[in-house]
Amino acid sequence: MDNEERANRKQLCDKIYFMAKKGTSFLDICKKLELQDYEVAGLVTLMSQQGYNIQFNNGEVLVLRAPLRNQDIYEVPYNLEHLRLLLISDTHLCSKYDRIDILRYLYDKAERDGVKHVLHSGDFTDGRSTRPEQVYELKEPSYEGQVQYCIDKYPTFSGKTYVIQGNHDDWWYKSTGSEIVKTIAQQRDDLCYLGPDVADLKIGKLKIRLFHGSGGGAYAKSYRIQKYLDTIPMDERPDILQTGHIHQSFYMKQDNTHCFQTSCLEDLTPYCRSKGFPNDRSCWWVDVEFDNKGHIHSVIPELETFGDKKLSLIRKK
Ligand SMILES: [Fe+2]
Repeated sequence: MDNEERANRKQLCDKIYFMAKKGTSFLDICKKLELQDYEVAGLVTLMSQQGYNIQFNNGEVLVLRAPLRNQDIYEVPYNLEHLRLLLISDTHLCSKYDRIDILRYLYDKAERDGVKHVLHSGDFTDGRSTRPEQVYELKEPSYEGQVQYCIDKYPTFSGKTYVIQGNHDDWWYKSTGSEIVKTIAQQRDDLCYLGPDVADLKIGKLKIRLFHGSGGGAYAKSYRIQKYLDTIPMDERPDILQTGHIHQSFYMKQDNTHCFQTSCLEDLTPYCRSKGFPNDRSCWWVDVEFDNKGHIHSVIPELETFGDKKLSLIRKK
């Protein structure tokens, strides 16, 4: 497909989207655009696959107000006795304060150590706030610019990064109707998008929940993760709970769940400074040992912290 065809298709998709948003019926959309029903249905399916909040369902085109959530568990086969994970969060890519240097360093280290699974608990991008001053904190203010920046700059990896959306990513959903992390992950084989806000995955028999969270500053850094764990019925609790959002690190084990509050990989922004929000830069390395039946024998956390100094261990991309 050449550039002109791509531009025409984008124009048609935009027209379908805005008509559907106004409540125009599927048949009327076909008539107004002089397209066959299968052509409109195909374009809607394409938009949906690209992360837009539009669906073709029962002969109608629906524009959703929130991303579709499911309670599926994403399963990854694993049968070795040792598993090393890297837990990261709140990378806020496209912020002028993002720390791509730390990401490169971490993925280099993961490759060197044979780590194949990275977990990311949301705020992949800095998004686009309704707060007008945020634009001065962004390297890329547009949706397309942020998508391309992430595709180009996020370190490539021989394993997989499992990621959910956070509230900053969700801002794009509210303004453009698109799940930006889904759109990015579709163009990167090493990123696996698990959905908005919360997701469950299993690596072998290890049950993991990723949760982002919302709202302002935390009462205490342990408070949010403790309260969230309390909301999960005992028989549904994961072995590892990873949360993001408050940009502070914290670990505790409660009952049989190892809880990791994962901080951020972004420098302190002027906004966060003015609000007095804390801003740890760190990640968790987690070693899990299984017994010979695949049950969890031990979980050992290790916190790695970062400062203002840019890291020079940078591989070429
Ligand atoms: Fe964040």
